[in-house]
Amino acid sequence: MLTPYIVTISSEKGGVGKTTLATNLAIYLKALHEDLPVTLFSFDNHFSVDRMFRIGKGTQRRRERAVSRHSPEALVETGEYGVQFIASSEHLHQLRRDIDDPALLARTLAESELGGIVIIDTRPDLDIFTQNALYAADRVIVPVKDAPSLENCRHIYEFFDSHKLSRRPLRVLPCLVDARIHFDGPFRDPYQLLKAYAINRGYRCLEGILPRARKWNR
Ligand SMILES: Nc1ncnc2c1ncn2[C@@H]1O[C@H](COP(=O)(O)OP(=O)(O)O)[C@@H](O)[C@H]1O
Ligand SMILES: [Mg+2]
Repeated sequence: MLTPYIVTISSEKGGVGKTTLATNLAIYLKALHEDLPVTLFSFDNHFSVDRMFRIGKGTQRRRERAVSRHSPEALVETGEYGVQFIASSEHLHQLRRDIDDPALLARTLAESELGGIVIIDTRPDLDIFTQNALYAADRVIVPVKDAPSLENCRHIYEFFDSHKLSRRPLRVLPCLVDARIHFDGPFRDPYQLLKAYAINRGYRCLEGILPRARKWNR
């Protein structure tokens, strides 16, 4: 058994940078450690991970089987930059109805030979796939870009509490904050303000921030 370290990117808000963070983190880690297996799962409905990473046509493999009892190694394709990924499927909605155990993916990955790091991109809701991704995680990164997305973190924390999971893996990461917003008071920097709000609620933050690229601020 080669149990991987699992990083889940999750937020109930869309457009906060989850997919961008998941894909870039995968490429970055692979660039840092060529020999480290880095595998990307996307439970998003979009096929962006396939489009980004697939070399040529690839084979038709199904990511949802990774959550079922099939071994994930058998479904993994090696893509661009040496990043491994499990291809998307149009049949996720069927499986969503069939799975009710949030611990299934954790067990499957614990028994797998994947090793290295698994990064899981999730949909902007707490469906059964997101629940599985949260349950399995050694680290959860919750991107927040404004007060509503911070407010939504509550449900992720509640999920951990209700399943008696330690909150230790959870980290908030301020992302893509609109730099045109200016605040008076002690926190003029909106990223620091978001961090202060998060800490006030008892959430731990990652050290850095993910800034919004300059050209989007024009
Ligand atoms: N650092 C960034 N600066 C500016 N725009 C970004 C940045 N990261 C992502 N985006 C854009 O923001 C949008 C939402 O990002 P995405 O990663 O798809 O979010 P999510 O997966 O949470 O829905 C996309 O159009 C993406 O290109
Ligand atoms: Mg996304």
